[in-house]
Amino acid sequence: MTDTAVDESRTQSNPLTEGLRQGRIPLPCVIVIFGATGDLTKRKLVPGLYALAADGLLPPGFSIVGAGRTELSTDEFRAAMREGVEKHGRVPVREDVWNVFADGLRYCSYELDQEDGLRALHEILNELDRERGTGGNRIFYFSIPPSGVAALAERLGAEGLSQAEGGGFRRMVVEKPFGRDLASARELNRQLHIAFSEEQIFRIDHYLGKETVQNILVFRFANGIFEPLWNRQYIDHVQILVAENIGLEGRGGYYEESGALRDIIQNHVMQLMAIVGMEAPSNFHAETVRDEKVKLLRAVRPIHPDDALSHTVRGEYGPGWIDGERVRGYREEEGVNRDSVRETFVAMKVDIDNWRWAGTPFYLRTGKRLPKRATEIAIQFRRVPHSPFGGNIATPVGLLPRDSIDPNLLILRIQPDEGITLRVSAKVPGQSMRIRTVNMDFLYGSAFLKESPEAYERLLLDCMLGDPTLFAREDEVEEAWRFCTAILDGWRAHPPGVADFPNYEAGSWGPPAARDFMARDGRQWRRL
Ligand code: BG6
Repeated sequence: MTDTAVDESRTQSNPLTEGLRQGRIPLPCVIVIFGATGDLTKRKLVPGLYALAADGLLPPGFSIVGAGRTELSTDEFRAAMREGVEKHGRVPVREDVWNVFADGLRYCSYELDQEDGLRALHEILNELDRERGTGGNRIFYFSIPPSGVAALAERLGAEGLSQAEGGGFRRMVVEKPFGRDLASARELNRQLHIAFSEEQIFRIDHYLGKETVQNILVFRFANGIFEPLWNRQYIDHVQILVAENIGLEGRGGYYEESGALRDIIQNHVMQLMAIVGMEAPSNFHAETVRDEKVKLLRAVRPIHPDDALSHTVRGEYGPGWIDGERVRGYREEEGVNRDSVRETFVAMKVDIDNWRWAGTPFYLRTGKRLPKRATEIAIQFRRVPHSPFGGNIATPVGLLPRDSIDPNLLILRIQPDEGITLRVSAKVPGQSMRIRTVNMDFLYGSAFLKESPEAYERLLLDCMLGDPTLFAREDEVEEAWRFCTAILDGWRAHPPGVADFPNYEAGSWGPPAARDFMARDGRQWRRL
């Protein structure tokens, strides 16, 4: 695993023919973005679509209709989107690319309270089919608050927009949170299925669009040397960490309803766990991959509500310091109750009841206002059964007895410093047999000089191509909720006292209880 991989960027390509070369140009289509004046549209969606245009991956006639409650002209919408792309885009704006892209941008207001509230949208879509040849192919992107999703989907159905006559495709993309527990997720699935079939529904989890997450599949199933070790016999345990140093970023209202378990564990972390733990799919078709993921999720041992406290640790940050700056505590954030007991940190142990993983726990951890932003999966192998080298183990703190030879560790770094590190023992040069741990590194930055696309780019393109592999299927979402809902029930029965929180300082690695929790198992959280 040295950095001698092929540098793809050295193979010069013409952006206009790049899509054809990759065989990934979708059919002409329209994306309707509901919630067009919201943050996600200008930060991620339109910049992501623009980056696809710049890479020559969008079909001719491609169009976007921004739909919102606010009255806005198409010119105003174009100007706002240009600003978004300039500010948040991965690629700099090129006038020629922008002009073609902007030509396909429209804005339309809609109103669900009125019977004909979607009529104007319907007309614009028909007009685009005639003028730009979009052939009735439509994607409805729901970037709206969760409370409005079911009603809008039903109205699209009633307006005749969810099913295509004459061969075009109709799809919907729905953002998280997808429900707030098992019952509400099931109910939402039921409501969406009134107008859209499961094949038409693309539930987005942007972690699946990250290059490094997709690479876990390649790393596991396109290499012969790791898979034979990928099980309880060789792996002591797995740690999955999603650490953020940011706080709420103005989303206090949302976070008070959500908390870390719903916001990160139920979706992003459980998806990572499924990908690390699943069996090898026999092919890379969407249903085959998702079948394997769901099998893994079904094998996760449920945590009974009565055991929720002993299997998890909750935390909430107080004021502290991050990168030399004083930051306020959770309860002082905008939109947060002054005596809130909402968790901003969770750690837990997960057992997987199958032949591959029995006895090898997965430890999951996430938190806001931790010292740094880091998402990684650390696979800790078992120690050597016996060391023939005596007591000469060199460590930064001096010589240690031989049983402290560090076990091998494989670290899949999702972000930042994207890459993979394998930690192995090596002989320190010299006359004696001294041993030290060294890293074998693969770094995206140096192996591929090409910049990775943003998660949303990949996912939007996949949706246009009708490939749901990197989207969560109904049963995956429900299995993840089944597990998390039992914990939420247990937590609800034993709420923390107002005085128990905050229990960690912003800028620390979470509550001391998290350290003790690992120590009880004779293990430690990996130190970053
Ligand atoms: C979102 C959560 O899904 O993921 C946010 O709602 C979180 O709270 C974000 O900050 C993290 O995403 P990323 O890509 O920055 O790791």
